[in-house]
Amino acid sequence: MEKMLHFHGTIFKLIFIILGLTCMIPYGYGGSSSRQKVLEVKRKLKHLRKHSLKTIQSEDGDIIDCIDIYKQPAFDHPALKHHKIQIVMSFNFQLKKYDLYIYNYQMAPTCNTTKTKMGSMSVTSQVWQKSGRCPEGTIPVRRIRKRDLLKAHSIEDYGRKKPSISPQDVHNLDSSVSVERQNHSKAIVFTVGYRYLGAKGDIRVFQPFVETDDEYTTSQVALVNGAFYDFESIEAGWAVNPSVYGDKQTRLFVYWTVDGSTKTGCFDLTCPGFVQTSNEVALGAAINPISIPSDIPFAMTIYIYKDPITNKWWLQYDEERMVGYWPPELFRGMKYQAESVEWGGEVYSTRVGTSPHTRTQMGSGQFPTVPFWDYCGTVSRMRIQDNSAILKSPPLLQPFTDEYNCYEARYVSDYVEDPEFYYGGPGRNPSCP
Ligand SMILES: *[C@@H]1O[C@H](CO)[C@@H](O)[C@H](O)[C@H]1NC(C)=O
Ligand SMILES: *[C@@H]1O[C@H](CO)[C@@H](O)[C@H](O)[C@H]1NC(C)=O
Repeated sequence: MEKMLHFHGTIFKLIFIILGLTCMIPYGYGGSSSRQKVLEVKRKLKHLRKHSLKTIQSEDGDIIDCIDIYKQPAFDHPALKHHKIQIVMSFNFQLKKYDLYIYNYQMAPTCNTTKTKMGSMSVTSQVWQKSGRCPEGTIPVRRIRKRDLLKAHSIEDYGRKKPSISPQDVHNLDSSVSVERQNHSKAIVFTVGYRYLGAKGDIRVFQPFVETDDEYTTSQVALVNGAFYDFESIEAGWAVNPSVYGDKQTRLFVYWTVDGSTKTGCFDLTCPGFVQTSNEVALGAAINPISIPSDIPFAMTIYIYKDPITNKWWLQYDEERMVGYWPPELFRGMKYQAESVEWGGEVYSTRVGTSPHTRTQMGSGQFPTVPFWDYCGTVSRMRIQDNSAILKSPPLLQPFTDEYNCYEARYVSDYVEDPEFYYGGPGRNPSCP
């Protein structure tokens, strides 16, 4: 018996030595890929945390690191190595004046609600803000959870969107083969035909159901440029995106890409690009409160506009908070302008366009049907900016939906002072099996 134990002991020792050796084999020379992944994750997280000057524990489980503004992730982007942060927009004051003019001119919106603060809706805030503030000179950065990074296919995949056109299809574009967008379902209203230098909208905030963790639902304002298989875009709005955030809370997001989400672009700060200047707003942070049926609707105001002097695309959240900007170095044509603006929702799922369809919802999860517009995905006060730098109501808006039986798009402009866009739906339902 004693001998047996001793024998086992030796075997264990041997196993430990072998394991130990495997761990010491450097990158790329073998070793299990999952172990490599763990190391890579640790490195990435350590890198992000290195410059944290203060840590805030939010009641919803998030951890917010206050990172030195000059040490933020954006500067890892090769084009931004020598970037100088611009804290305020060059002609902000001038714009504000125009804003006021436009707002005063506005009439009551169509959705009939009781309390008014921002048009017909109340402003939301971020959950973590109850637990503390980041000092001046820092930016609040939501800490990425190790388990969320580990779940991604690769570290590079984390926080990314998937393309809607496969690379093979891009090659087929010149042939007669029809090329379709895949795995993304949109219900939007859009405008084309101008040089767009800004876009704005109030988006009602909901918490739609997301069926599986690799799917997401978003509602946003987007400026887009280029062909549908290779577009540039910048977007901001709210998202329920479990694979990025690890839960199904509704969160503020920003996104950008320069190649139709094939190789570039990320949510929030997960890859370098967006330069954050605000010490109050955290990208990816949970939003509260959320609109619920037959109660006051809550909305977020998203305003994206180009600084004509520096060509930076600034993001403003609510009426006065500047969050940060996308530097022109990131873009091609969008250095100068966008060709299109879109407002509305998007669902990502590999069960889009198939049966059974995904049950992931868009907007509030309800179809926009009269008279229940109080509780449906809504974008109001849609505005654009062209060369004149004045916010205008877009003259030509067209609704569009990929799957009208699953997610609807309704643009209401007749007999109303300020057109509104209603969108969304439940995904799978009897007419979208
Ligand atoms: C809005 O609601 C109020 C009170 O509930 C009602 O008196 C009013 O007629 C409604 N307005 C519209 C346009 O439906
Ligand atoms: C859409 O999802 C399917 C199933 O996972 C996948 O095979 C296909 O490549 C995806 N399409 C694109 C364009 O990524």
